[in-house]
Amino acid sequence: MIACLAGVAIAARAVARTPSPSPELLAKGKAAYEGSAAGCAACHGLTGEGNGPVAFAIKPPPRNFVRDEFKGGDKVEQVFTTISLGLPNTKMVGYPQLPEPDRWALAYYVLAFRAGRK
Ligand code: HEC
Repeated sequence: MIACLAGVAIAARAVARTPSPSPELLAKGKAAYEGSAAGCAACHGLTGEGNGPVAFAIKPPPRNFVRDEFKGGDKVEQVFTTISLGLPNTKMVGYPQLPEPDRWALAYYVLAFRAGRK
């Protein structure tokens, strides 16, 4: 019985819940985005405009977060899913290996580029 309850608790914790945005979460997202473990900035650029150092070699090109439409949707849950699973047949692979809190932080950080859209 105790083992059974523990199993339920673990299953419940595995369900993705959208965290609230916060300055701490954005700072975590920025660190992950610019860090080498994920390497997002190499393709998407430090300013999120799809102009990272290797972007020129990639077809289709990396998304410009400020300007482009998002194929997978731009709700934070949708961006989280794209970061987790990637986009088929492109150089945008999924990053399921990143801890889930980092993927949420990245989703909010990506959308922060978008918020500055003109
Ligand atoms: C090797 C280059 C590369 C890296 C590294 C990379 N991306 Fe991408 N990303 C792409 C490309 C290319 C696309 C556009 C694919 C397309 O046009 O369908 C894309 C698209 C996206 C999109 C837009 C999805 C949509 O719905 O249109 C998001 C969000 C995104 N990337 C986030 C990230 C994040 C966050 C990271 C780091 C964890 C990352 N990317 C790392 C190449 C990259």
